[in-house]
Amino acid sequence: MNYPSNRPAWFVLTRHWLSLVGAAMLATAVISWLFVLPHQIRGHVDNPYVGIVIFLILPLVFFTGLALIPIGIYLSARRIRMGMAPSTFDRKIALQRLAWFFGITTFINVLFGTQVTYRAVKHMETPQFCGATCHTMNPELVAYENSPHSRVECVECHVAPGAAGWLSSKTAGIRQLVETVLNTSPKPIPTAIASNRLVPARETCENCHWPQKFAGVKLRVINKYADDESSTRTQTVLLMMVGGNKISGIHGAHFGPGVRIRFAAVDAARQTIPWVEYRNTTTGDIQNFVSSDSTPDSIKALPTHEMECVDCHNRPTHAFELPPRAMDKALARGDIAITLPYIKKEGVELLKADYRTRKEAADKLPANLASFYQQHYPDLYAERAQDINQAGKAVLAIYNRNVFPELRVTWGTYPDNLGHEDFPGCFRCHDGSHTTPAGRTIAQDCNTCHEPLAMDEATPEILKTLGIAERISKVQKQ
Ligand code: HEC
Ligand code: HEC
Ligand code: HEC
Ligand code: HEC
Ligand code: HEC
Repeated sequence: MNYPSNRPAWFVLTRHWLSLVGAAMLATAVISWLFVLPHQIRGHVDNPYVGIVIFLILPLVFFTGLALIPIGIYLSARRIRMGMAPSTFDRKIALQRLAWFFGITTFINVLFGTQVTYRAVKHMETPQFCGATCHTMNPELVAYENSPHSRVECVECHVAPGAAGWLSSKTAGIRQLVETVLNTSPKPIPTAIASNRLVPARETCENCHWPQKFAGVKLRVINKYADDESSTRTQTVLLMMVGGNKISGIHGAHFGPGVRIRFAAVDAARQTIPWVEYRNTTTGDIQNFVSSDSTPDSIKALPTHEMECVDCHNRPTHAFELPPRAMDKALARGDIAITLPYIKKEGVELLKADYRTRKEAADKLPANLASFYQQHYPDLYAERAQDINQAGKAVLAIYNRNVFPELRVTWGTYPDNLGHEDFPGCFRCHDGSHTTPAGRTIAQDCNTCHEPLAMDEATPEILKTLGIAERISKVQKQ
């Protein structure tokens, strides 16, 4: 391409429409990046799928543009060589072309940058995008919507602030996208703790939960309903010794001033913990607790972790339930009429039954509840069709919040570490078998963590003493 040297570079560039398009794409990609990047890096809030735009689409536009420019130049040079275009340099035409070029690219860029890119990025940060577009995360979205964090965006807990977290979430996002498209994503999705897809948890949680605040004691009244005909209620009253970051009690014991707890886990989900180290830099106390069924050699090879909020609160938002508890809650709230005979027992059985799909559950579950009453209590069935119908819907809603057969998420798929009744939880360490060589044991006494004020009682004295027995059980009519 031997152009006379008096022709400016932009003349070469504007000779062929292909190189013009190429230059426009190049500019669009660069300007879009400029729009998105600061928003991305500055913000704590981010989403793995923004990576699709930043790492896939924009580079594609950029490199296609880059490739088109020389092709255009080559083609225009060929046209000149073959005598199909004048080889003289017409400054006016070239300037006109350049003006058009700048006008149109600027227009497209402003439109693209402000509208499309910005909105796309914004949209990808919504829980709807994370949980619904990517359907394999639907269980997490549903459980999240039914939790105290339903107003907190997914990315607040799942993407670390700063450039490193941003990059790692991008790569993870692209991998997840490919897995979803190819339908090779694991089912059920492994817990985030297991796959390290959680922000360094303490910093995240403490962004919103001020350490000084989650302190004190907390009264818990747990209602349970029996399997008998009248679904008899009993109440357990626990005074939780929550403590605080400076007050002893549950929080203070694990991260009070100077306290650091590390532990080794056998499995990725951290359910089996044979070794625990307690360090208190303020008092100089260092303890090594080893569970009685393990040997020091078997522990050495295991990965260790520093104890964080999520080692207890692993389900602060994806709070899946178990059938008896979910039924207890629905009965306590009055969503299901307690006066229907055997309603607790029937509800739990129908929830536990095996359905291959959610559709099958929707077809069978309410129908089977109705036919139970039709068969065994025909008079009641005739009188209270509406209550039975409503109960069927409420039981199905419990199922739909917790079980996703297509994604292999079922009762108990995800253990909850806050407690010890349904899953090992606190007793992973506080099982009375984790002991130091000197004989100190991680406590299991029943009043270490909570003062049990009443255990499964029909009418606990303590609630009467406090004068709240009636008030806390009253269900308001809707
Ligand atoms: C308040 C913090 C928080 C928010 C908000 C949050 N998550 Fe999570 N998420 C967690 C924690 C903690 C875990 C780890 C649970 C475990 O490892 O046991 C987790 C685990 C997951 C998992 C792995 C599977 C599982 O259930 O363990 C997926 C998928 C997930 N979250 C998706 C989402 C989506 C989608 C949203 C938004 C709709 C969201 N998360 C919002 C804290 C959060
Ligand atoms: C963006 C803010 C935000 C972040 C981040 C956040 N939370 Fe929360 N959290 C809230 C809000 C809002 C509530 C509901 C108000 C309340 O109950 O105090 C809440 C409630 C809670 C509760 C009380 C639930 C109850 O039943 O009373 C716990 C426990 C909790 N969060 C733990 C965590 C943990 C653990 C993390 C880190 C994985 C976390 N939160 C991250 C805002 C946040
Ligand atoms: C050793 C386990 C453990 C660890 C670690 C832990 N918590 Fe808790 N936390 C609990 C228990 C148990 C409760 C009381 C739960 C209940 O019965 O309602 C609680 C209660 C809470 C509450 C609710 C307080 C209230 O009065 O309603 C918040 C908020 C909370 N924790 C936040 C955090 C944050 C943030 C961290 C990390 C810095 C953290 N917790 C670490 C066990 C733990
Ligand atoms: C990873 C192991 C681990 C887990 C899981 C764990 N703890 Fe602890 N906990 C410890 C260690 C270690 C100590 C300190 C024991 C000592 O110094 O003798 C401790 C101490 C305590 C104490 C103070 C006990 C005392 O004697 O004063 C309380 C209360 C407590 N934990 C509550 C809980 C609760 C509630 C849970 C579950 C939500 C829980 N812990 C889960 C390791 C654990
Ligand atoms: C290491 C701390 C710890 C110890 C020790 C402990 N608990 Fe608990 N317990 C908890 C926590 C945390 C919960 C969950 C409270 C909640 O639901 O928020 C709980 C819940 C319970 C519940 C209510 C369960 C339900 O149905 O919801 C009962 C009953 C109970 N504990 C009994 C006991 C008994 C009996 C002992 C003695 C063997 C004991 N606990 C020892 C921490 C502890």
